Amino acid sequence: MERIILDVDLAMGAPGSDIDDGFALALALADPGIQVDLVTTVNGNTDVATATTLTLELLHQLGRSDIPVHRGALRPLIRPQTRHGMVPEGVPAREPHPTAAAVAMVDHVRANPGEITVVAVGPLTNVALAIRLDPSFAANLKQLVIMGGVFDGHTHRASMPGEFNIWNDPEAADIVLTSGIAARWVGLDVTLQVRVSRGEAKAMEASDKPFESFAGRYTAAWIDHLNLRNTEQVDSCAMHDPLAVAAVTHPEFLTWAPAYVQVETGDRMRGAFVTDYLDSDWAPDESRVSLSPNALVARAVDAAAFHEFFLT
Ligand code: BDR
Ligand code: CA
Repeated sequence: MERIILDVDLAMGAPGSDIDDGFALALALADPGIQVDLVTTVNGNTDVATATTLTLELLHQLGRSDIPVHRGALRPLIRPQTRHGMVPEGVPAREPHPTAAAVAMVDHVRANPGEITVVAVGPLTNVALAIRLDPSFAANLKQLVIMGGVFDGHTHRASMPGEFNIWNDPEAADIVLTSGIAARWVGLDVTLQVRVSRGEAKAMEASDKPFESFAGRYTAAWIDHLNLRNTEQVDSCAMHDPLAVAAVTHPEFLTWAPAYVQVETGDRMRGAFVTDYLDSDWAPDESRVSLSPNALVARAVDAAAFHEFFLT
């Protein structure tokens, strides 16, 4: 059984917002190989207050209000918050656990050394704070799995040089990359290939199962929003965050390569990665720095295998 802390910037349930964090949570709860010990929230897709309320509401809908939810960082480490959300009318306010997300991560990992996998599917602010709070955090983690980054050199989006979670808080990503934790990175290169179509979303919406119907409705609305905004990849949306959750129990869906990764924290290429797969046949000499891997990068995905697992 894989025990996880899931760190989310969940916006499913707010109109016009990305829905994949909600599916990541639902998938983690449904996977018999995963036990969700804690859920932590972070600013990103929406402000952290909205993310926390929507997370508590989704757990309630899924009958799992027993899982503690810890509210996390209000904004990136040094940069302003970029997105705000709104909790729709009628969603009741429930209180999260009083302990802040980064402190809860530190305490839980320290109490269970070698047992806990953190799955981070939003900006890395909470994870970076946990690393800074506890020098033994990195060593005590079982594994860190991250949805973030883009590794093939193409940015995929005209609006930002890298990928949103890393662009949002590149300094936090830098702390993670230099922490000694060789995280598994599930980046846009692979997540853009795992998609749910508008037809599948509408079929979910028609289901008599409450979560399926709710999730289908918001997914169809999100795809409509993307259709209006984008000129390509219409009529479907990517399941970025669920792929990172699936990587915990099904790493074989992805092809992994060790790499040395650095993140750009300057403004021009904010959040872009420079990745060296260390596969050069040049022997290091005294004029060159010898690099060792600090990441395990997903380079390819079996999209069909994931898609079947996800829909099931
Ligand atoms: C990431 O950004 C958010 O929009 C998604 O939830 C995902 O975590 C993809 O770039
Ligand atoms: Ca996310």
